[in-house]
Amino acid sequence: MSDARPILFFDSGVGGLSVVAPTRALLPTAPIVYAADSAFFPYGIRSEAEIAARVPALLGRLVERYRPRLAVIACNTASTIALPAVRAALDVPVVGTVPAIKPAAAMSATRVIGVLGTEATVRQPYVDDLAARFAADCTVLRHGSAGLVTLAEAELAGKVAPEAAVARELDGLFAQPGGDRIDVIVNACTHFPLLAAQLAAVAPGVRFVDGGPGIALRIAHLTQGQSWPDRAAPGTLVFTAGGERESRIAATLAQRDFGKTELL
Ligand code: DGL
Repeated sequence: MSDARPILFFDSGVGGLSVVAPTRALLPTAPIVYAADSAFFPYGIRSEAEIAARVPALLGRLVERYRPRLAVIACNTASTIALPAVRAALDVPVVGTVPAIKPAAAMSATRVIGVLGTEATVRQPYVDDLAARFAADCTVLRHGSAGLVTLAEAELAGKVAPEAAVARELDGLFAQPGGDRIDVIVNACTHFPLLAAQLAAVAPGVRFVDGGPGIALRIAHLTQGQSWPDRAAPGTLVFTAGGERESRIAATLAQRDFGKTELL
């Protein structure tokens, strides 16, 4: 008998879709529940205390309701702040999102890499630790951008982000001392790969890396040997608030194989 338990993806908004896409490519019939904490979006401008108080409890409610085989925190901000607490609170395996500093350092020829995340993510000691462990011989420049998160959400709702606006956000990295030598940028926010075309256009010659493909491999590894439904079915979208913004996102995502919308 096939196992109908879904994979639960969680983010503040639509950024986690950059993790869903490579997962669907590897596991095409995996049932998917995608939860966006739209009531508390954006996370990147919140305090550590706010995120730590909210995320484990919310994940607990989602797991109780959807009984997933695995939960994925498809959000760097939530993962770098609350992953251990979420793991302690849940009785299912939890995969987090870690800024891809290790592969970026391995790729860099100039030994100057950029970490582009939310303001909350780039100030985390977790990022200091990754930089010290995997990029000790690199200059690691960081920039927190709430603007790119907003642009990515709008892009997904159908409003194409102008390249000039994306370029202004990237200047936060390039204008720092040594910034002109950056050859690899870590997209340390799951929203940013949604702007891949604009990022590539405004920073030619710079390579961008994110955690999505690695997370998909990790999910496939952790679910190895489990059975999946024979056919792909539309995913379920969950919001924590219901308003005009959520309706717009749901309408766009209906074209990306999300058939049902629910309110937590
Ligand atoms: N997508 C999230 C991340 O990876 C956060 C975006 C936000 O809500 O600020 O960090």
